[in-house]
Amino acid sequence: MSSVIEPARLRLAQLPTPLEPYDLPGNTPTLWVKRDDLTGTGLTGNKVRKLEYLLADAQACGATRVVTCGGIQSNHCRATAIAAAQLSLSCHLFLRCDAPPPDEAPTTGNLALDRLVGAEITFITHDQYRDRAQLMAAAAGPKGYVIPEGGSNALGTWGYLRCVDELRTQWRLPPSAIVCATGSGGTHAGLAIGVRRRELDIPVYGVAICDDAPTFQARIAQISAEACDRWPQLPQIKETEIRVVEGYKGGGYAVSHPDELADIASVARSTGLLLDPVYTGKALRALMHEPGLFGDRPLFVHTGGIFGLLA
Ligand SMILES: Cc1ncc(COP(=O)(O)O)c(C=O)c1O
Repeated sequence: MSSVIEPARLRLAQLPTPLEPYDLPGNTPTLWVKRDDLTGTGLTGNKVRKLEYLLADAQACGATRVVTCGGIQSNHCRATAIAAAQLSLSCHLFLRCDAPPPDEAPTTGNLALDRLVGAEITFITHDQYRDRAQLMAAAAGPKGYVIPEGGSNALGTWGYLRCVDELRTQWRLPPSAIVCATGSGGTHAGLAIGVRRRELDIPVYGVAICDDAPTFQARIAQISAEACDRWPQLPQIKETEIRVVEGYKGGGYAVSHPDELADIASVARSTGLLLDPVYTGKALRALMHEPGLFGDRPLFVHTGGIFGLLA
């Protein structure tokens, strides 16, 4: 397994990120938090780990332009736009929104940063978003490189294979479980493949922040199958082996309930950890409200999203 040749990678993230212990409010075991919210300032969060591989590939392909998509406050789109600016690539974002703000309207959060770094932005409706692959391919042109939603494909998932190796140099005792927020599946896939690749007996849980368990199991198994096609020495993760925790998406993608916001505030006040309302704030609730699921030494991957808190 260890003889797999790692694909080319750019150095964009501040690595290694710290692994720190926290005591959450309530009667929960000490939580080890992998601070991937500290991967950078503009590049904060999990997406930059995937972009290190995806943008290395874009450069190797001779691309001068990157095209990607996501929700109007997508962390992935913001990270792509900022990294593209850093690498002198142009960037075109397809952002999902049924009622786009006028160009001159003030914007907040990730969208404000997309504009600040000069990304070209096309707003598309939820219906149009179903055809995003075709829209992005058409916008890419001959020198364009298309990155799928969330950077979640076989190449991007290497970001979290590598994160597992980083973690192994940091923990004194292996955790009883590794937990992350799951939105497009690449982070969960990378952690699961990375753990299996090193023959570690640690369950990996993704907390669904949208969609349902069967949808994510199928998506993550597909990423794993694609990774095995490309790098046959990697272990394959089957649908039935993928652990998705349901019950925390609340009102749905990017919809916040007062109870969720109250938990974000209580964690911030008691630990100083800043969670975002769309991903980490929902996912960490699983550890707060069902600690029994994850054993006595859980590890949470804080995947960032801070600008969503300011949107
Ligand atoms: C802050 C944050 N956390 C978690 C996720 C989920 O990661 P993934 O898309 O790899 O499932 C995302 C993106 O979707 C994100 O922006």
